Amino acid sequence: MPEMNLRSDKRDDESHLRVLKVDGYYLPPFVKEEHFRSMKTWKARNDDVIISAYPKAGTHWLWEVVSMLIQKKAERIPEIKETAMIEGLTEEKFHSLATPRVINTHVYFQHLPKDLFAKRCKIVYILRNPKDIAVSYYNHHKKLLMYEFDGPWDNYFQRFMQGNVDYGSWFDYTLEMERFIEKNPDYPIHVMYYEDLKENGTKEITKLAAFLEIDVGDDFVRSVNSLCQFDKMQQEKNKNETASMWRDKIHGMYRKGEVGDWKNWFTVAQNEMFDSIYQQKMANTKSKLRFSL
Ligand code: A3P
Repeated sequence: MPEMNLRSDKRDDESHLRVLKVDGYYLPPFVKEEHFRSMKTWKARNDDVIISAYPKAGTHWLWEVVSMLIQKKAERIPEIKETAMIEGLTEEKFHSLATPRVINTHVYFQHLPKDLFAKRCKIVYILRNPKDIAVSYYNHHKKLLMYEFDGPWDNYFQRFMQGNVDYGSWFDYTLEMERFIEKNPDYPIHVMYYEDLKENGTKEITKLAAFLEIDVGDDFVRSVNSLCQFDKMQQEKNKNETASMWRDKIHGMYRKGEVGDWKNWFTVAQNEMFDSIYQQKMANTKSKLRFSL
């Protein structure tokens, strides 16, 4: 019955989080099932770049950086990254985006247009330590009104560990990305870490530009890095977002932008539980995640 896959409220514990459920996969409520299902057949362009990340890994930040590199202009990008978030678009909108497109997504690769892979479009994949992601995602879910979520952190922590959130489990996503990289050693995918970008932005942006085959000088890299610092983006990008989407009309996308904020949220028991599950699930991971700087 197709209706069963239409928007559903997933309820667990005392609080609920509104998501779209498509064949057991949870997506944010703004995604339209028919577009999501048709995405696989959409046409790519050779110069499309895809930014791929589990939510809250720094997608907005990286999108701004990549967009400036691609446009070879160290100038604030007037659009917001959601304008090129493929799972939120219609096919028409996707095709109307100006070339070169900096597409961004949180979905598994199996859901993306097959043509992106046939054309070997470059992928930039950013990871962030999952303790900070959990805290950031909690605030995202609580502050964005469309999720109708108003639960306590303690309850949310369990939900995050179980993957009962849009885009599913961080663990599954990260392991799946590792499998893709392992199985496709020649595919052009550049792996980045939020913590590295925070620690040494110019070094990371220089490596990224080389991967994108964009010839840029040190001054340009420094300007991009400076424009993409958290405080500047928080001040300047918020202007383009709709305040009414947020609880108390306070923008929450650029929240804190730090490494290690999880220490202000995790209890000792949660941290122990997290570490034990992490060690089990990520025993063979090749990811080099850092939980503090
Ligand atoms: P916090 O909630 O920890 O502050 P995404 O873009 O994938 O949704 O990730 C959002 C997270 O990236 C938020 O984390 C946000 O503040 C942080 N972020 C956004 N821009 C940033 C920047 N320029 N520098 C550092 N962190 C940034």
